[in-house]
Amino acid sequence: MHYNFETIRKRHHTGSKKWAELLANGVREEEDIIPFSVADMEFETAPEIVAALQEMAAHTVLGYANPTEEYLDTVCRWMKTRHGWDAEPGWILPEHGVVDAFFHAVKLFTQPGEGVLLMTPVYYPMYHAVRDTGRVLVDCPLVYSGGRYTIDFDDLERKAAGENTKLLLLCSPHNPTGRVWRREELERIAAICLAHDVLVLSDEIHFDLTMPGHKHTVYASLSEEAANNCIICTAPSKTFNLAGLQTSNIFVPSPALRERYLASLKRSNPNPKCNILGYCACEAAYQHCAPWLEQALQVIDTNRALVVDFMAREFPQIQVTDLEATYLLWMDWRGLGLPSRELERINHQEARLFFDEGHVFGAQGDGFERWNLACPTRYIQKALERMRAAYAPYVRP
Ligand SMILES: Cc1ncc(COP(=O)(O)O)c(C=O)c1O
Repeated sequence: MHYNFETIRKRHHTGSKKWAELLANGVREEEDIIPFSVADMEFETAPEIVAALQEMAAHTVLGYANPTEEYLDTVCRWMKTRHGWDAEPGWILPEHGVVDAFFHAVKLFTQPGEGVLLMTPVYYPMYHAVRDTGRVLVDCPLVYSGGRYTIDFDDLERKAAGENTKLLLLCSPHNPTGRVWRREELERIAAICLAHDVLVLSDEIHFDLTMPGHKHTVYASLSEEAANNCIICTAPSKTFNLAGLQTSNIFVPSPALRERYLASLKRSNPNPKCNILGYCACEAAYQHCAPWLEQALQVIDTNRALVVDFMAREFPQIQVTDLEATYLLWMDWRGLGLPSRELERINHQEARLFFDEGHVFGAQGDGFERWNLACPTRYIQKALERMRAAYAPYVRP
């Protein structure tokens, strides 16, 4: 089946966070402009998911629901067939979202005043999960060189060894840098964290969105020891654009950790947790929508290649990092020599480009932009034309 990745469903007044920001920035509805910020896709929902939701809404009572056995088996099958990881259905704990899960884990497995490691720049709610809960941010900055980010393992080891450091919030694949951590890199992380008794929460929400030539490794698949010292956060929400349905699958392989996690979930609310439509959509997606995903990835890769070629040709001062996974292209605009406030002004007011500003991912992101590529290709082409015109007066040839 050939799916439709061309139609834009305008979302100005649907409650969409991303589109509301566009309106707040003064974009008029009649301008044919879409946002390239918040990480959801401007693609139509896969028809198999729509059909499953319609069927459920028409024929099922929408009462409280636990995940069914078939649901849990389907999620495990997805992990096995796409990621080669043998997970057990009983390891899956439902949470509304991955962000809920990492806030929960921080509060459950660390005490106020204890240290939580982040590899920065990183997805900004991770800073909130540390700072807003009274924990101490143990910053392990990634090393940026030649348009690529790597881990400073000596620094990681030094910081993991700190007596106060209890938890690593790992982003894998990494948002915003687009890195897919190689198995060897993950093995070094695991060795360090096991040696220093640092628990690992691996946020793998972008796991399915790898670009050609890259392969995601589930952290828990590294070894039994690593599996027993981690929490794996997954969801269908990035892969199939279902974030509004608020259903994620949190794997806790260790029985001891799982017991604590489950008890804590029940303490906060003894009722079943998640959204019956979210389970339905996830099951339909994992059972029927792998071909949709393959086509979505092709469109994203086409969009990536367009931007990369354009920047190399027209704006070689802008360094575009290699996109190994996610649909979020991380670009270093500092070579243009413009202050970040001025970049934002030109982008918004002259080029009508609405990215996520790099500084929201941490201080190292200042002067960077994150471009959401999950949209019909013609919107990328039009955006590049606007950029060429808007920046002509500011950039020396
Ligand atoms: C790394 C990462 N984790 C978590 C989320 C959000 O997860 P959820 O919507 O399940 O809370 C995002 C969304 O962009 C993300 O990029």
